[in-house]
Amino acid sequence: MSEKSFHIITFGCQMNVHDSQWLARALMARGFAEAPLEEADVVVVNTCSVREKPEQKVMSALGRIRQITGGDPGVLVTVAGCVAQQLGTAFFERESQVRLVAGSDGISGAPAAIERLLAEPDLRISLLDFTSRYVEREAGADGPCGPVAYVNIMQGCDNFCAYCIVPFARGRQKSRATPAIMDECRARLDQGAREITLLGQNVNAFGQDKSGDGVSFARLLAQVAALPGLERLRFVTPHPKYMGPEDVAAFADLAPLCPRLHLPLQAGSDAVLARMRRKYDRCGFLDLVAALRAARPDLALSTDLIVGFPGESEEDFRATLEMMELCNFMSSFSFCYSDRPGARAALFPDKIPPEVQQERLLRLQDLQDRLSRRWLDARVNRKTCLLIEGRSRRDGPDEEPSWQGRDPYGAPVHVALPPDADHTGRMVPVRITEAKKHSLMARRTGELW
Ligand code: SAH
Ligand code: SF4
Ligand code: F3S
Repeated sequence: MSEKSFHIITFGCQMNVHDSQWLARALMARGFAEAPLEEADVVVVNTCSVREKPEQKVMSALGRIRQITGGDPGVLVTVAGCVAQQLGTAFFERESQVRLVAGSDGISGAPAAIERLLAEPDLRISLLDFTSRYVEREAGADGPCGPVAYVNIMQGCDNFCAYCIVPFARGRQKSRATPAIMDECRARLDQGAREITLLGQNVNAFGQDKSGDGVSFARLLAQVAALPGLERLRFVTPHPKYMGPEDVAAFADLAPLCPRLHLPLQAGSDAVLARMRRKYDRCGFLDLVAALRAARPDLALSTDLIVGFPGESEEDFRATLEMMELCNFMSSFSFCYSDRPGARAALFPDKIPPEVQQERLLRLQDLQDRLSRRWLDARVNRKTCLLIEGRSRRDGPDEEPSWQGRDPYGAPVHVALPPDADHTGRMVPVRITEAKKHSLMARRTGELW
């Protein structure tokens, strides 16, 4: 087979990033090589529809591909992911270079479809069906996988938060079978991973759907934490309502489980939370945070926040700011609410004008900057351990090259390490020496391992 090349452009969440990485490995196993956009025979755009902006990016990406490839009909353009799921074959009309649309579950069939489309230039294929169970994907090309691995434990979401498109774009929740998850974790550790992040839209509801195999999320965490060779374990994204006592206890009991939790709050006012259908209130969230901090006193929390949800008053918004202080989030992702056609809140009255949303977003981000600053400053002089992820762009002092790693809280840390070796994937004991705007500087205090 003559070697064909591919290029993948990815938008959206970690699950999309992970899907793109799998697709790349699956195509490589079929003899494809990765290439820059200008040279690729196959271009894949893996899309996100969670807010208006990511959705617009898809259309501009398709425009850019047309421009760079000169509209060459020989270039096979594939649209995958959440916008593909929603707009489906409409992409065929919008852009003639698009000959494959593969939705959230359909992406598993994309490698075979791509090969077929290359052989049959007049064909178009749409893979848009949702499956009833989690579909195991074909193995990709082998090879080292880097120190940090992501492993899917479920697909979809059943929560139907009023603002959110994910249950429509990704489908209903389907848990993956525990043995398949364990096999993938073991394989990643064999390939050199030292940290594993378990992925899903609602991870702590793992097992609570008809694909569940009787293993709870807390059991799964314990099983993965016990794997030999695993130094660090993380998970994203949990839902506060599903954080049970066993999940909280895991932070006290499982040594590899990192003291960092991304726990989306979304809003601080009970009235807004109720309209969002988040199924918890301020008090419940604060109790959960207190229980988590009792289990793991050094736990660092981060969150997602939406400003300007329909009907949000100034007082509601201030309740969000107040919750941020009470929870002391080390970082947050914050967004202006945007209507998603199909999601309930699109029909809600009392939409907040964009300029008010924007003004609230800036105030919120200003507060977050101060909280993040305080968190980073408090790290100075502390001893900790880094997992090195690669070279850093900063120059090290004393002519030693600088490397970037993460501490157990997930904060990026720069450290100078001895020259002439690739330290990627090694653990290094350090002392934090300085807090920069978004990262930390450290000095090595012991041997790498
Ligand atoms: N499953 C995760 C995250 C899903 S989407 C969770 O439950 O938290 C990622 C984030 O995008 C959400 O946490 C939310 O903050 C934001 N988001 C989702 N829909 C949105 C919308 N319509 N407008 C603005 N932000 C939105
Ligand atoms: Fe969306 Fe809510 Fe599901 Fe998260 S839990 S993916 S915000 S519906
Ligand atoms: Fe976006 Fe789909 Fe993820 S809508 S956030 S890519 S689940």
